[in-house]
Amino acid sequence: MNQQDQIEIIREIIDAIDNDRAVDSGAVVKNPTSVFRCRDLAAREWQALFRNHPQLVGLSGDLPEPGNYITTNYFGTPILATRDAKGRFRAFVNACRHRGAPLGMELRGKQSRFVCGYHAWTYGNDGKLLGVANEKQFGTGKQSCLNLVELPAQEKYGLLYVHPSPDGEVDIDALVGDMAGELASWELEKTRYLADDLIDSKLNWKLAQDIFGENYHVKALHRDTLNRVAYSDVSTYREFGRNHRFVVPVRYVDTLRERPESEWNLLEASVVVYHLFPNVQFVLVNGAVSLSRIYPDPNDPAHSYTQNTYYRTATASAADGEQLTDEKLYESGGACNMEWGESALEELFDTTAEQEDFWMGTHLQRTADSDALDHFVIGRNEHPVEHFHRNYRSALNLPPLEEFRAG
Ligand code: FES
Ligand SMILES: [Fe+2]
Repeated sequence: MNQQDQIEIIREIIDAIDNDRAVDSGAVVKNPTSVFRCRDLAAREWQALFRNHPQLVGLSGDLPEPGNYITTNYFGTPILATRDAKGRFRAFVNACRHRGAPLGMELRGKQSRFVCGYHAWTYGNDGKLLGVANEKQFGTGKQSCLNLVELPAQEKYGLLYVHPSPDGEVDIDALVGDMAGELASWELEKTRYLADDLIDSKLNWKLAQDIFGENYHVKALHRDTLNRVAYSDVSTYREFGRNHRFVVPVRYVDTLRERPESEWNLLEASVVVYHLFPNVQFVLVNGAVSLSRIYPDPNDPAHSYTQNTYYRTATASAADGEQLTDEKLYESGGACNMEWGESALEELFDTTAEQEDFWMGTHLQRTADSDALDHFVIGRNEHPVEHFHRNYRSALNLPPLEEFRAG
């Protein structure tokens, strides 16, 4: 993000802190609890937002060189995504054309040929069938109609998108809309993979999504963890069509007051959360980014998977090369002038997110499952939550969220 935009946001943050101001959606709304338990709705969203919607499978840093591959199984079609010999990002159904065994067996790896573990047919990472074991006895040659099924795939702004259906389309510019310029400015194509983490939790994927949409809860739920690093209920927010940017100030922002604006850096002042509809969030911190993709379990509305991947970014403003570790994270309000180390990121996601947010989410799910409450209430200061549910309802042709009226 350019320096002037960073300065504007930091000014806005400081003003919000001084005036105790949060984001404001303009209305309190009711969110029916049925959206978290209804099986019919779960079947519809699975088709509309996952089976028939482009999916972000990673960042360019997941496939740094020809021969790298990643696999994923979370949105119905098993995916094998590769970087071929020409450096091109490709995606295939991860299924051998003989009897459907997977070719890429790991979450990620490096190999330019895939030998099927069942009967040893061999494929190139461009999807081409290179060899049929005991070809003569089997009875067919290397027919091109038995190449891996290729899927629409596009790489842009460091994002790797795939469509789960061979007949689908991927248009990253249409997906990111007017967030494109800002996304490009973070140079996500220069990220380097650090680690993976999976949160398998008993809550609806939209409740997991809501965890990333407000910081009203920081002081209460994260009293001894994130609360020591970040402000509660002070934030700035901007919508980009169905996507948004949610900026959560860290306490370190107060040290910037003493420094000239020309030295201000947004990632020393805040954690920046970008949401790409329907199920993606980027949590950008100084020197690193965490990519969270949240997937429903199509057979159980009360179960979801959150796949987190951490990356090093090219844009750290590290103080003397020092790293922010898990131990240093909670000291001095999170010294965000340091580059975030892997242990600090893991601490944030293991303790704050998994043990606190997701843990609480499982209780919300029980309430939703019980049908004891007709609706939850989304406050004016929970604008990103309201934005997501507004888009979700519109994508499924559900009536808009109703305004809450006392009494
Ligand atoms: S399933 Fe792959 S070779 Fe038989
Ligand atoms: Fe939280």
